[in-house]
Formats: sequence, structure tokens, C-alpha cells
Amino acid sequence: MDARTSQTAVVFYSRTGHSRRLAERLAQQVQGQLLEIAAPAYGGIFGYMRAGYNSLKQSAGAGRVALPSLAGFDRAIVCGPVWTSYPSVPLRNLLRAMQDHAGGVALFLTSGAHSPPDKAFETGAADLGRAFVATACVPNGVEGTDEEDRMVGEFLRQFRASQPAHAQD
Ligand SMILES: Cc1cc2nc3c(=O)[nH]c(=O)nc-3n(C[C@H](O)[C@H](O)[C@H](O)COP(=O)(O)O)c2cc1C
Repeated sequence: MDARTSQTAVVFYSRTGHSRRLAERLAQQVQGQLLEIAAPAYGGIFGYMRAGYNSLKQSAGAGRVALPSLAGFDRAIVCGPVWTSYPSVPLRNLLRAMQDHAGGVALFLTSGAHSPPDKAFETGAADLGRAFVATACVPNGVEGTDEEDRMVGEFLRQFRASQPAHAQD
């Protein structure tokens, strides 16, 4: 493995564990470093209501999210849930903060339903200020099935294809 291939960060936020499991799977597959976005204010029943309210209002949720540093990483996979048809508030905070980060960014979402994730992808790309190098959205209902394997495989194919040739593993 080229040393450069280990410069991938897999940054995740997960309120109830779905995205955490998938982020761990992705980090293993790309030999990336797993970094968690801390947002305890969105835990529990009051946190659930705050999450829905902040997301609907498209509020940044002032100070409720602690973002990890991405200094030293040249690529990132951002993983977390859909909230009210948008990437969840912690992911949106991260994507906005990554506007000046030069490397390729991929978005991997989890959701409760099979509704099309297009709006979430578009909103995330607008927050980041550019297109994602790969996207996926895995509904909770396909977890642990062949369909999850297919979606993860396709996402990783897109992600690897966008990698500079000298850094491909
Ligand atoms: C406040 C809130 C809003 C949500 N809104 C949506 C939604 O609009 N569409 C959807 O498919 N799932 C929605 N969900 C479900 C989550 O996206 C889904 O359960 C996801 O897998 C949770 O990931 P996590 O366990 O990593 O937190 C919402 C969940 C929460 C907490």
C-alpha cells in the first residue's frame, strides 16, 4: 500500500448507530481513519425534537457540534443520517467547514425510507460548495442484506475511481 492511501478520513455522525456501523465498514475497506463528530445535544427524546426542529429550519444548531480536525487528510468520506430530507445538521456543519479543504469528498448517508435521496445530496453539495466524488444512501431496511453490499460496493467503486492514479490501492 502506498503511504498516501492511508490519508483518507471517514468522518461520521450517528445518533442511533446505523451510520456508525457503516462508517466502520467503510473505514476498514479504504484503510481510512475513523473520526466521530460529537453532538450530544441531539441525543435522547429532547435531542430528537431538537434535531428535527434544527434540521427543518436549516439552522446550524449554534455550538452544538464538535467537528474533528481534518488537517493532514487529503480525502474524506462523510457518513451520517438523513434528517428531514437533508443531511443531518452535524454533517451539514462539517461540509460547510470543509469548503476550503482541497481534497475529494464523498457523502454516504443512511435513512429511514426508500425515498429518493437526491435532495439530501444536492443540499450537501451546496454546503460543500462542489460536487461529491461519490454518493450513497442506505435505508435502514436493507441493512445486512445483499443490497447493502451492492450499495457499499458501488460507492467504493466511485470513490476509488476518483482517486489520483498514483494513490490507488
Ligand atoms: C430528526 C430525524 C429526522 C429524520 N428524517 C428522516 C427523513 O426525512 N427521511 C428518512 O428517510 N429518514 C429520516 N430519519 C431517519 C434516519 O435518517 C435513519 O434512521 C438513520 O439511519 C439514522 O442513522 P443513525 O442511527 O446513524 O443516527 C430521521 C431521523 C431523525 C432523528
